[in-house]
Amino acid sequence: MNRKEFLRNLGFGSLVLSNISCQDYIDVSPLQSTDFKNPLNIPETINGIGNLDVQILEKTLIDNKKTSLYLYGNSVLAPLIRVQKGASIKLKLSNQLAYPTNIHWHGLLVPAAMDGHPDQMIMPDHAFDYQFVINQQAGTNWYHPHPHEMTGEQVVRGLAGLFIVETPEEKALNLPSGAYEIPLIIQDKKFDQNGNIKYNPKMNEKMNGFMGETILVNNTISPFLNVSTRFYRFRVLNGSSARIYNLTLSDNQDFYIIGADGGILPNPEKQKSVLIASGERLDILIDFSKYSVGSEVFLESKTFGEMGDAQGKQAFNLLKFAVTKQETNTFQLSTKLIAVPKLSNSTKTRSFEIVMKMLSSSGMHKINGKTYKADRIDETVNFGTTETWEFDNSKEDQPHPMHIHGVQFQVVSRTGGRNTILSHEKGWKDTVLVAPKEKVQVIVKFETKGKFVFHCHNLEHEDDGMMLNYEVV
Ligand code: C2O
Ligand code: CU
Ligand code: CU
Repeated sequence: MNRKEFLRNLGFGSLVLSNISCQDYIDVSPLQSTDFKNPLNIPETINGIGNLDVQILEKTLIDNKKTSLYLYGNSVLAPLIRVQKGASIKLKLSNQLAYPTNIHWHGLLVPAAMDGHPDQMIMPDHAFDYQFVINQQAGTNWYHPHPHEMTGEQVVRGLAGLFIVETPEEKALNLPSGAYEIPLIIQDKKFDQNGNIKYNPKMNEKMNGFMGETILVNNTISPFLNVSTRFYRFRVLNGSSARIYNLTLSDNQDFYIIGADGGILPNPEKQKSVLIASGERLDILIDFSKYSVGSEVFLESKTFGEMGDAQGKQAFNLLKFAVTKQETNTFQLSTKLIAVPKLSNSTKTRSFEIVMKMLSSSGMHKINGKTYKADRIDETVNFGTTETWEFDNSKEDQPHPMHIHGVQFQVVSRTGGRNTILSHEKGWKDTVLVAPKEKVQVIVKFETKGKFVFHCHNLEHEDDGMMLNYEVV
């Protein structure tokens, strides 16, 4: 149902409509800063063994103001966890918030008991040991809380970090690393005059998802990064609740997508722009050897269509690259990256219809007519089988990034809407953007027993109940 129909169904006349503040019903425009003068925060790297305290700390995000953030650890940004395939992870999460929380390892293939299912909450003043072994391909994964109905709030208030898996096969590609490999966590927030984060979604934000006017990268407002004249690798996470970005370089230069979500692509994909939806990751190479020292170029989000009427209306800058140093570029991008074995022999197709039902007391965003119920198993899957899951958004007019826990899948088709598999969807994915009018099919092999969720990664939709349980038996 679109907004006009919704208002009609509500019986809103123009009189009532005019009382609704305009801001509630239009695209939330990012505030434009011309002055990208804040050095980009870079997270500290840890290796997957140790303590993670979840706590509220005050940090300065906006000049002279103190912002309370929910944080993993002490610093303004969650630590980046970087491990090798085969590593044993042992992380003790101590919850020092006044609310239940937990960690979901988005993209990682972990036992059901370690997955951060909404059933598995860690109460205030309690701790939990997350222990699992990494057994998957190289990729850019992430971690965040998953308390049902509070995920959006806890992520927006600061809880989101990257979890990078490396393999010898990937090492052999000699991709830019160290100071030339930069994580970029893109998020949007709303602040009050005192610098406090505002998060209190009303009807419209529950419909469209929360969108803040202030865009941050690595919790830095209006950031810049000094770069040398060579190739860099960027691990990009859209850690926003709902906002979709259309990543572009301001001078329209090409960049190379080398990976997405949980894996590296078979071949680099040369692009001028790419959409990244909430929960998705992109592994991107940018060649700054084309620029001269002293020049500047922005990573921006340019306008886009086909994603409903609440997204993509404005272009805005995300990050300024200041080219400050001449360096000889020795990196050669090979045309072959990491082969992705194609999943096949799907034995069953399940279809999931995405539906919006306004004013439904049990949540407006539904999958197959249902909203989340903790103790109901919605789908039972046989261990070891391969299935096709279809997300059917053909009747609706909002975008939904659909995410399945416990697996990495492959996109096999998209019909309607954009009608194609996109360049960054040719490898392992765990979240796929299903645009209005689209039906997207993914093929999945279920290799972990237990109860997991799948849901829309628009966090307000998820918190509103657009999430179901599946169990592998
Ligand atoms: Cu990143 Cu269930 O989510
Ligand atoms: Cu997940
Ligand atoms: Cu959604």
